[in-house]
Amino acid sequence: MTKTATKTTEHAHANFVNAEMFVPKMAKINRVETFTEKETFFELSFQDGTDLNHKPGQFVEVSIFGVGEAPISISSPPTKKGAFDLCVRNAGMVTNKMHQLKVGDMVGIRGPFGTGFDIKKFEGKNILFVAGGLGYAPLRSFMNYVVENRKDFKEVHILYGTRDPNFILYRSEIAALEKNKDINFHITVDRTGEGWTKNVGVITTLFPKVKISDPANTLAAVCGPPVMYKFAIMEILGKKIPAENIYMSLERRMKCGVGKCGHCQINSIYVCCEGPVFNFARVCDYKEAI
Ligand SMILES: Cc1cc2nc3c(=O)[nH]c(=O)nc-3n(C[C@H](O)[C@H](O)[C@H](O)COP(=O)(O)OP(=O)(O)OC[C@H]3O[C@@H](n4cnc5c(N)ncnc54)[C@H](O)[C@@H]3O)c2cc1C
Ligand code: FES
Repeated sequence: MTKTATKTTEHAHANFVNAEMFVPKMAKINRVETFTEKETFFELSFQDGTDLNHKPGQFVEVSIFGVGEAPISISSPPTKKGAFDLCVRNAGMVTNKMHQLKVGDMVGIRGPFGTGFDIKKFEGKNILFVAGGLGYAPLRSFMNYVVENRKDFKEVHILYGTRDPNFILYRSEIAALEKNKDINFHITVDRTGEGWTKNVGVITTLFPKVKISDPANTLAAVCGPPVMYKFAIMEILGKKIPAENIYMSLERRMKCGVGKCGHCQINSIYVCCEGPVFNFARVCDYKEAI
């Protein structure tokens, strides 16, 4: 394995890359499910039978040969073996081509990349998940892990907001979470739709419904559209959860995914290597981050 030193930043990012990081591994599509008019679910398996071995919050670079690559968050928990899940919004060249793929088609996968959520830090603590729109996809990896290992965590609160009822992802799982007595699950839509009887309003309107017993021992995991962070974080801090207990996943334009091209840079931070999951206390002074 060849190790090559990359440029050093003020905050050291992953300093080594190896040739394997640049070579996509072939993966076959096992299952495709249309979630919304824009978002589609894919389950994939590596052709060589290996596992992805990821952490919640990490991402892969998906290659559509002849078109390009796109970073996509891993949506399944690390406990899922033999296959992994992606939820993809049709946003441009690569993702549009992905939406045309069928069961049995092959794609290239590089990764997993990025830091992810450190599960150990969350164990024995209350957790508040705040998921906006497509931000549900990366957080689902962690949320499903928590549901499967419920006894390792204290209170679990999940807040999920989408544009309207037609944009809800993972509907059957959400129905199960709503019934799960060990989880405090709240959902909202910005605009109501036919038959909708639950909360209407942006995600911050859910915070009054959340009662957290011990804020100092509560960790928050946040992922959503850029506009959501500032307001969601104000609400989380308003619940007396300390800034250093807030973790958020940030999206930036990425190319290489391994700290070489600089496309993802915020000040001295390479989001692909040091993120996409960041501690809020660390990046709150970077204007560009939030
Ligand atoms: C860490 C990470 C995790 C992600 N996870 C997911 C996920 O789970 N699911 C998901 O669907 N998406 C996810 N994304 C977003 C996804 O990577 C992008 O939507 C995807 O790369 C778009 O690629 P594309 O080739 O389909 O679109 P492009 O053809 O690249 O176009 C995408 C959009 O950007 C615009 N655009 C293109 N180039 C530029 C430019 N240089 N400057 C400004 N605008 C430009 C286009 O007009 C278009 O609106 C994630 C991104 C990151 C960084
Ligand atoms: S995507 Fe190339 S340095 Fe981060």
